[in-house]
Amino acid sequence: MNDTGVLARPALPRLYAHGAAIPAVGFGTTDLKGDAGREIVATALRLGHRHIDTARKYGTEVEVGDGIRASGVPREEIFLTTKVSHENLRAADFARSVEGSLKDLRVDYVDLLLVHWPNPQIPLAETMQALATAKRRGLTRHIGVANFTTALLAEAVRLCPEPLAVNEVEFHPYLDQRKLHAACRRHGMVLIGYCPFMRGGDILDDPVIGEIAAARSRTPAQIILRWITQNEGVAPIPKSTRPERLRENLAIFDFTLTDEEFERIGALRAKNRRRANPPHAPVWDTP
Ligand SMILES: NC(=O)c1ccc[n+]([C@@H]2O[C@H](COP(=O)([O-])OP(=O)(O)OC[C@H]3O[C@@H](n4cnc5c(N)ncnc54)[C@H](OP(=O)(O)O)[C@@H]3O)[C@@H](O)[C@H]2O)c1
Repeated sequence: MNDTGVLARPALPRLYAHGAAIPAVGFGTTDLKGDAGREIVATALRLGHRHIDTARKYGTEVEVGDGIRASGVPREEIFLTTKVSHENLRAADFARSVEGSLKDLRVDYVDLLLVHWPNPQIPLAETMQALATAKRRGLTRHIGVANFTTALLAEAVRLCPEPLAVNEVEFHPYLDQRKLHAACRRHGMVLIGYCPFMRGGDILDDPVIGEIAAARSRTPAQIILRWITQNEGVAPIPKSTRPERLRENLAIFDFTLTDEEFERIGALRAKNRRRANPPHAPVWDTP
């Protein structure tokens, strides 16, 4: 126990991209509102989570900020991400959104600022300039994008005056993201993988994953997260409202899937199912 009452524990592995050191598993915060939201963010940090993913759009920035302060975990130990919505990608709107995020989070900077979704109505060059400006103003340590396809990613890299460290996209065994994953590696970027459980979907009951989980005395959730982290440069950001699952979702670095297990799970990509596909989504890469 240190003097803030936080249990000492082995540090989470980190993934590196353009100077960012990103904890290899994170914690998602959609819908974590009100007192329950504040409490679960604080609990996640106390249990060892160090990578918190929020967004202006989620309306959880106040709760995330309160949870961080309540946790007793020093700010500098936390890797905090927020995002600017697709409606706010013009330069002036972008700057207002970031300033609003910092105010609600009550922090001086975030560690990672992302463009939440691409928006073809707004010139990408203007958005990339606004993103780089936020970094140059010290409002964020690192920058990146979310939900960018391989073509959009190449365009963003070309147009952005500062290096992009991350593309945050849906990533789990039921979705074929090999092209996008390879593109992220080529650009030296980390892929942050959202919806690892397809929002608590039937992937958690998959028979192949269940068989491997039983053989390894792990839960299906842990097998999925371990599979994701064994994809080079990929960090999942599961969400949970239950402390025992927060613990479970961190306890994935003391075993390794064999090549055969990894390939069996990888073959589930043939299902090619996507969970997040709003009307403003881009035309996705095809496998
Ligand atoms: N950039 C983007 O556009 C984007 C889009 C979507 C999501 N995200 C981010 O990614 C995060 C994660 O995605 P998500 O929240 O959509 O869904 P998710 O993490 O795939 O699934 C969350 C669901 O899984 C359940 N769960 C969590 N841990 C479990 C475990 N160990 N065993 C069994 N069930 C478990 C949770 O239930 P309990 O609460 O009951 O445990 C919850 O219902 C989001 O919160 C958000 O931060 C980003």
